Amino acid sequence: MVILNAFIVLLWVCHVLAQQAKVSSTAQAGILPARTTVTSNGGTIASNNAATQVNSKSEAAASSQPTAMPSVIINPNGPPAYITWKTPLPNTHYPPLFKIGSSTVTMEWGIDRQALAVPPDNLTVAVISPQKETIVVAELGGAATSATWDLVNITRPLMVGFFTVLVYDQRGPTAIPQAGQLMPDSRLTLGLYSPEAYVERTDGKST
Ligand SMILES: *[C@@H]1O[C@H](CO)[C@@H](O)[C@H](O)[C@H]1NC(C)=O
Ligand SMILES: *[C@@H]1O[C@H](CO)[C@@H](O)[C@H](O)[C@H]1NC(C)=O
Repeated sequence: MVILNAFIVLLWVCHVLAQQAKVSSTAQAGILPARTTVTSNGGTIASNNAATQVNSKSEAAASSQPTAMPSVIINPNGPPAYITWKTPLPNTHYPPLFKIGSSTVTMEWGIDRQALAVPPDNLTVAVISPQKETIVVAELGGAATSATWDLVNITRPLMVGFFTVLVYDQRGPTAIPQAGQLMPDSRLTLGLYSPEAYVERTDGKST
């Protein structure tokens, strides 16, 4: 009987201990919200946690949207961005011909946007005359892809011959090729002719 009583007491003690363990574990689980609502320390911790969460959220958002970042990643081993002529098409054997006094040269090109990590600030279209004189034809915005050269209303006399077209950004026509930046272009040559000049010459010979 004594042994049975002792066993029951032992069971009861075990039961009480188990209940206490339950209570303490639930209390522990409830400690953080209790503190955050009641004490100022808990409130600080909670707001810190909240701030940390906001930070990590905004970091995650930023990393998932790299296009929103202002900085540009340039592959230093990548190519420069080249111009592709659309019109007129460069032809070293038979350069496209234009008549001084009656033509307007429309020039159109594309730029390899994949390679263009650093868009130009601005573009300049110029021509080098047969006398190696540089004539600026157009000063354009950095995204421009066309220019016109008016040969009708000319402001200075143009010599008959071949003119090399230059397209370059703010770094100039002799800029060093750099990854992700526009490669200065000089692949288009135009032939300019003038029937008037020819008439004058024959008139001179006939007199
Ligand atoms: C040349 O100038 C005249 C008069 O300013 C103008 O009417 C004409 O459109 C111009 N031609 C071209 C090709 O720009
Ligand atoms: C092009 O941009 C550069 C700055 O990058 C500036 O110094 C230059 O004056 C600009 N040229 C033209 C024609 O706007």
